[in-house]
This record gives sequence, structure tokens and C-alpha cells, in this order.
Amino acid sequence: MVIGLISSVVRDGVPSYLKSVPIPRSFGGFLELSAKEWLHLVAFSGAVGAAGYYIAKPYIDQCNKAKADKDMPINPAIKKDCKKVVDVVDIESLGEKVSYCRCWRSKKFPLCDGAHNKHNQETGDNIGPLCMKRAPPVV
Ligand code: FES
Repeated sequence: MVIGLISSVVRDGVPSYLKSVPIPRSFGGFLELSAKEWLHLVAFSGAVGAAGYYIAKPYIDQCNKAKADKDMPINPAIKKDCKKVVDVVDIESLGEKVSYCRCWRSKKFPLCDGAHNKHNQETGDNIGPLCMKRAPPVV
């Protein structure tokens, strides 16, 4: 029912409406438009502009988010004076279980302190730590 109404408006109404839009054939023709024709043209231009904006908005938002993600460093604050952050862990020093940060927001970096939870809430991200535990001895 709704699609039938949309179909009849677009297929039957829009073409005749478009014929009535007072778009002049030259720039000089704008000077010859009446006030009523100007109003019609402004309303038409506004409707076309709004439709274009709402059609393009998801794409523009996606481009802006991609640009913001690209401009934002993964590491916001840890050891920024180093050219490259590298941590070496002696495997023998690992306890029974340890969690390493992968969100770069831990105050105990490279260990996880749970800061990823706040980051995930604020950004909608789903980052979690790398958890390692000692396997039981093979008998
Ligand atoms: Fe970074 Fe947990 S604090 S992963």
C-alpha cells in the first residue's frame, strides 16, 4: 500500500512536477523570473539539496570517521619519547596467569589494568587484553 503510493507519486507526479520547475535556459533568464517562480525555484532547490544531503550523509559520515581514525594514533600516551615501544618479557618470569594490554591505555603497560573497559564504553570498541596462563605440566 505504502509502496504503491510512493510509486504513483514518483512515476506519475514527479515528471509533471519537474516540467513545471521554472529553470531558465540561460543566466539572463533568472532576471525574468517572477516572485512566484523564484519561490518555486528556491523550494525546489531546497528539496533537491536536502535529498542530496540525506542520501550523501552516511557516506560523508563514514569518510569523516575513517579520517578521524587515521589521524588518531593507536598509542595515545605510553612512552611517547621512544621511537618504538618494545617490551621484552622473560617467559620464566611469568606467573600462573598474566594479562597484557592491547588497548594502549593501561597505567601499568604492558600489563592490563582494566582501562580497556572505559575505552570500549567511550568508543564502542571491543578491545581486550592478551591473557596468558601456564599450561598444566604434561604427565
Ligand atoms: Fe589495555 Fe586492558 S588495559 S587491554
